[in-house]
Amino acid sequence: MPVDSFFTIPQHIAIIMDGNGRWAQKRHMPRTVGHAKGAMGVKALVEQCATLGVKYLTLFAFSTENWRRPEDEVSTLMGLFVQYLEKEMGALATAGVRFKVIGDVAGFPPELQTRIHAAEKFTEHNQAITLVVAANYGGQWDIVQAVKGWQMANPELNVNQLTQAQLAQHLSTAGMPDVDLLIRTGGEQRISNFLLWQAAYAELYFTEVLWPEFDLIELKKALISYARRMRRFGLIAEQVDK
Ligand code: FPP
Repeated sequence: MPVDSFFTIPQHIAIIMDGNGRWAQKRHMPRTVGHAKGAMGVKALVEQCATLGVKYLTLFAFSTENWRRPEDEVSTLMGLFVQYLEKEMGALATAGVRFKVIGDVAGFPPELQTRIHAAEKFTEHNQAITLVVAANYGGQWDIVQAVKGWQMANPELNVNQLTQAQLAQHLSTAGMPDVDLLIRTGGEQRISNFLLWQAAYAELYFTEVLWPEFDLIELKKALISYARRMRRFGLIAEQVDK
């Protein structure tokens, strides 16, 4: 499927990587094995997105609600994140990947926080693609922290003076384009408190495929679906054609 040459490529893809637990359970393995398998595919996906011209790829790795999972699953996910930073960061950096984490990182173990900050610093000038990992992230949290951030930055202003553009500058994604394509694997059809503000006009793509099986062929299917849609941003079709 040749998508590379003539299809409209989204600038910003966001993915809810769902189905790791089910993938493992179907094979009579612990859910954590599914997360490990799910993490293994990330590097190839990032590289493929960069090759295709996607500029931002945001992955939902850990939500504010995921803390409620069994303790061993939470610690496995934290461990995978540390391992990932340790093992893959060198290769990703060489490939021109800029790495960024969004979310309430202060809630993570200190070792993980240090690694996150080091990886962000190490890759800050890279330009091929920005890999954004949403960790301890919730869309509602992001909007509230943005309002607080705006008020801190503008103590002399009243909240009635807050504009959408100003609020966007205080979201954790400040400076990034909004999401063009939001993919969710694993068969559920909801946004689950992901990038609520940033995905306001995103095209949504849901697939039954479980995250550990979401390979480059599946990515291309999503891109083809995206390219076939007409994005109207509230206008009518004739206005968009002009
Ligand atoms: C949802 O599957 C997935 C998660 C909660 C975690 C996703 C994390 C990774 C793939 C690993 C770390 C990522 C990086 C970027 C290093 P689920 O457990 O809800 O699956 P289920 O719906 O089948 O139970």
